[in-house]
Amino acid sequence: MQTVISVTKLSKTYASGLKALENINLDIRRGEIFALLGPNGAGKTTLIGIICGIVNPSEGTIRVDGHDIVRDYRASRSLIGLVPQELTTDAFESVWNTVSFSRGLFGKPANPAHIEKVLKDLSLWDKKDSKVMTLSGGMKRRLLIAKALSHEPRILFLDEPTAGVDVTLRQDMWKLVRSLQVAGVTIILTTHYIDEAEEMADRIGVISKGEIILVEEKTELMRKLGKKQLTLHLERALERVPNALSAHRLELAGKGTELIYTYDEQGDRAAIAALLADLAASGVRFKDLQTTQSSLEDIFVTLVSDRK
Ligand SMILES: Nc1ncnc2c1ncn2[C@@H]1O[C@H](COP(=O)(O)OP(=O)(O)O)[C@@H](O)[C@H]1O
Ligand SMILES: [Mg+2]
Repeated sequence: MQTVISVTKLSKTYASGLKALENINLDIRRGEIFALLGPNGAGKTTLIGIICGIVNPSEGTIRVDGHDIVRDYRASRSLIGLVPQELTTDAFESVWNTVSFSRGLFGKPANPAHIEKVLKDLSLWDKKDSKVMTLSGGMKRRLLIAKALSHEPRILFLDEPTAGVDVTLRQDMWKLVRSLQVAGVTIILTTHYIDEAEEMADRIGVISKGEIILVEEKTELMRKLGKKQLTLHLERALERVPNALSAHRLELAGKGTELIYTYDEQGDRAAIAALLADLAASGVRFKDLQTTQSSLEDIFVTLVSDRK
């Protein structure tokens, strides 16, 4: 797959002496939704700020579609739309002017049809003549997205797009992101919500204390690290796990009425077949069974805590 952004040996030390990023190497693929997942203070906004040319890197290089972001700033920046974490908009301007002006900043010729489409897509069309300060919080957030899309970027950064946002707006946001991906836009979003990364991303990069701990396809991450459990609801309660079953990783739960078998996602099916055969041979009968899989949340907590 084609690389659209490549970050090489990037480090950032702020003037205060704080080391916010340490040797970041990261490739973003064209057309993907990439989630940068990490707790507050991990360095997500700093990384985005550097790629978008708002924050100066201390070391390292970044290329956006082949353009060096320092030497070739205008070319690289014009490919990017940025929806910032903080709400910042000119309160006295109208919605229409705010979005049109944003496009102008990138030196693109006026295109009222595009602005109209963006405002309609974001359900802001009937507010086009309203002053920004009269909008609700949710509308202001959508306005930031409209601004970011005003110059038809091929890459969109969303910095914590759903932090402090209600459930409906959150789902609208996710829908919008998917439709942008379908339209060919590469999406990089940052989040500290694990379920957001799990819901949205094709790939996930976990960042902690300025370092990228891992980058993985979401499904691969789940497969590699996810544990599965098979719960057998027994016909009759057991006092302890029978000796005949001691070879299997079993635990007794539910006052002896449940046997829980834990296995790796990639663990072979033969092991489960053997377990079922041993159960039958030792006369343990079950009336029902169910499997559960650990969520990305469990995986994330394990990863971050393993490094302390
Ligand atoms: N302008 C700045 N000057 C000094 N330190 C900063 C500045 N901006 C961010 N930091 C620090 O850099 C670290 C990473 O911050 P940030 O990139 O905002 O993380 P995140 O977006 O993951 O919450 C934090 O410790 C933060 O306090
Ligand atoms: Mg941030």
